[in-house]
Amino acid sequence: MKAIRLRRPGGLDQLERVTLPDPGQPGPGAIRVRLHASSLNYHDLAVVSGHMPADDGRIPMSDGAGVVEAVGPDVTEFVPGDHVVSTFFPTWLNGDPTIADFSTTPGDGVDGYAREVVVMPWTAFTRAPQGYSHAEAATLTTAGLTAWRALIVDGGLRAGDTVLVLGTGGVSIFALQYAKAMGATVIATSSSDEKLERALQLGADYLVNYRREENWGQRVLELTHGRGVDHVVEVGGPGTLAQSITATRVGGHIALIGILTGLAGPVPTVALMARQQRLQGLIVGSRQHQVDMVRAIDATGIKPVIDKSFALSDIADAFSLQRSGGHFGKIVLEI
Ligand SMILES: NC(=O)c1ccc[n+]([C@@H]2O[C@H](COP(=O)([O-])OP(=O)(O)OC[C@H]3O[C@@H](n4cnc5c(N)ncnc54)[C@H](OP(=O)(O)O)[C@@H]3O)[C@@H](O)[C@H]2O)c1
Repeated sequence: MKAIRLRRPGGLDQLERVTLPDPGQPGPGAIRVRLHASSLNYHDLAVVSGHMPADDGRIPMSDGAGVVEAVGPDVTEFVPGDHVVSTFFPTWLNGDPTIADFSTTPGDGVDGYAREVVVMPWTAFTRAPQGYSHAEAATLTTAGLTAWRALIVDGGLRAGDTVLVLGTGGVSIFALQYAKAMGATVIATSSSDEKLERALQLGADYLVNYRREENWGQRVLELTHGRGVDHVVEVGGPGTLAQSITATRVGGHIALIGILTGLAGPVPTVALMARQQRLQGLIVGSRQHQVDMVRAIDATGIKPVIDKSFALSDIADAFSLQRSGGHFGKIVLEI
């Protein structure tokens, strides 16, 4: 089978096309999946670029979607022909988080989905939403579930809430879509007026160009008549958190998700304390969260926004586009 390997994490030139042995038939507890799509996340870019430690020879990509070809003798969850999508944490099935690293995450601690066929424990997949293409399903594993967890699981989003999404990448656009489907008001930020126009078309209620408005937190506060937003999907990290705290209402919720501006930095702790805000870190979600999300997608008909699609063999070009920040929503790989 065809696959992509990272000779040594450290750059797009380290991605190589290889032919690997077929993984064979599934044993007890396992399923064989013919993968048809994956999607790019900032995390995958960090692995490929060598910013996250990964073993030499790693098969990248955390997201995978395809068709079940065979199931192990005791597997009752799936039958051949089922359309499935991978889970970010194959061993975190439900309940409270138990994992604080990426050691079990495909495409990071273990081999991922930049390949044609896998044999994996059945817990590494859930059913894909009805009517989804494989490319659409492949956007859910990381970006889709992170936005879901941030707003619905951890945030307890309610109709009428106001949500602030930062930038227009994969997580943020999913968050915008979920928030609108749940009856929330959305404030979207971007570095690009053209992308803000696209966010408007997706239902965003207010737009802020964070490059032009240096104090965008204050601007968001004004847009909410001084109250602040109920939830922030905080994908920026240390360089944006202070503004997010300004933008959030007293008692509001900040889902701390991203590292776009770095890995550590000063936090205005007194402002956070005085405004009695909840700062909740998270990494993606459990398999049960994904099952719940797929059910909600079936009910709402939400479709992911796919900016551009590449063949698996053009994976380096796909990452180049992501690195340039030229995309809106998701970039996918067809396998
Ligand atoms: N904790 C988790 O579970 C989890 C899961 C998924 C992702 N993440 C993290 O969340 C972040 C986003 O991931 P992604 O996959 O959605 O990335 P992505 O699709 O590559 O999106 C990147 C976008 O972020 C925006 N951006 C960049 N710098 C920004 C800044 N200073 N302020 C506001 N927006 C900024 C840009 O949007 P514009 O071009 O519109 O400005 C850019 O296009 C990453 O840091 C990633 O590691 C964490």
